[in-house]
Amino acid sequence: MKFRTIRGTKDILPNEAYQWQFVEATVRRIFEQFNYREIRTPMFEETALFARSIGELTDIVSKEMYTFTDRGGTSLTLKPEMTASVIRAYIQHNLGSSAPLTKLFYISPMFRQERPQAGRLRQFHQFGAEALGSQYPEIDAEVILLALSIYKAFGIEEVTLKLNSLGCEKCRPAYKMLLQSELRKVYNDLSPDSQHRVEENPLRVLDSKDPQDRAATTNMPLIKDYLCTDCQTHFQELQSLLNASGIAFEIDGRLVRGLDYYTKTAFELISSHLGSQDALAGGGRYDLLTQELGGKPTPGIGFAAGIERLLLVLDKQKLFRGGSPQTSVFVASLGNDMIQNAFEIARRIRLAGISAEMDFHRRSLKAQMREADRQKVNVVVLVGGDEWASGAVLVKDMRSGEQHNVKVAELIEFIQQIVQAQSDKPRDSRNESELSIQGLSTKEHGTSKI
Ligand code: HAM
Repeated sequence: MKFRTIRGTKDILPNEAYQWQFVEATVRRIFEQFNYREIRTPMFEETALFARSIGELTDIVSKEMYTFTDRGGTSLTLKPEMTASVIRAYIQHNLGSSAPLTKLFYISPMFRQERPQAGRLRQFHQFGAEALGSQYPEIDAEVILLALSIYKAFGIEEVTLKLNSLGCEKCRPAYKMLLQSELRKVYNDLSPDSQHRVEENPLRVLDSKDPQDRAATTNMPLIKDYLCTDCQTHFQELQSLLNASGIAFEIDGRLVRGLDYYTKTAFELISSHLGSQDALAGGGRYDLLTQELGGKPTPGIGFAAGIERLLLVLDKQKLFRGGSPQTSVFVASLGNDMIQNAFEIARRIRLAGISAEMDFHRRSLKAQMREADRQKVNVVVLVGGDEWASGAVLVKDMRSGEQHNVKVAELIEFIQQIVQAQSDKPRDSRNESELSIQGLSTKEHGTSKI
């Protein structure tokens, strides 16, 4: 095979595509219940947008972006996340002018050049939401509830909510200096990656998964204990809202997240059904980002969730519902001189909004009936024979096995009734004897056109 998918990317084949559609439809339904509206942004943006918002020193910006220079010499990047693009669109189109709160959701591919493994791809897909305009903890609680409600809608209950507050521009600088001075004391015990971070991005040292870093930082001060009054109140109010809604959470003072734009609330949803890449979703508040990107100061909070990881959990927990759509009618033709008529009958059935298929291999009636059975259609319409000569077709109800002689002019209404009656009942395969058309003269005759 000469060409294959690029490492870390995947084809979504037809049988999987229906699972994706099921996921997307469910996600949209819940977003709409919470009054979020969809936004779609381009796949690529100016590189500086992501560098400015996510942070130059983050792994995403420093190591993982798909960045290229276009023929006009502009540095562009395939979006590694949506928040930056949403804020760019919010500012560019002045979305905040018409309402005090703008609630947006998205479902989109994202691109990060990470080392591929289970639940980690280079082109992956996220659904997510951003609420712009409120500084109050009730919107933080709603965003968290929204994310949890989506998993609940799929039947996924075992999700751990980890929560932290990352402070603000008032309290974080002093804490950062304190942490830095403490980290310098254990510098030699840290992994090379964390040693780099001590001076540049010390908070990230705390959420390193490296056991060496974990051991060296067990007694480090945590930001949640150094919050200013404003951040403390916000964090407390959020917790009491969550408690009042019966939402369980764990405070994780080491939860920092891999993007630099967060202020105050940061959270992650973790699943024990995933391996090392156990974060189903992550999010938080970013009260300075809009201003940072050139807009009016606008507080915001949001989250994003990996669709591939959700699919892994749905698969592990056998929570998929519904299957691929099924074709309702198979139009069989008795002899090659009936193909044009069968083609026309199929066209008319589809025009009436009913799905129809026919044979494209000029096969025998027996083989066509087997194909109709394989496709589990509700109805077979047989075009040809004596019926056709008298302006009718044979209609076989594949559930009951009953056959009817139906005038072509009444065919659509007749099929509609059968399909309607069978619509919510799946049909099993039939055995060979049930696949025959009874009383049919095997002689192929009748060439009249409809
Ligand atoms: P993030 O934590 O980088 O946050 O990504 C959110 C989710 O996307 C992760 O929890 C994970 O499920 C999924 N994900 C991330 N990288 C990959 C990958 N390489 N392969 C598969 N899935 C992946 C953000 O993207 C922020 N924009 C979230 C946010 C929105 N914060 C505020 N608003």
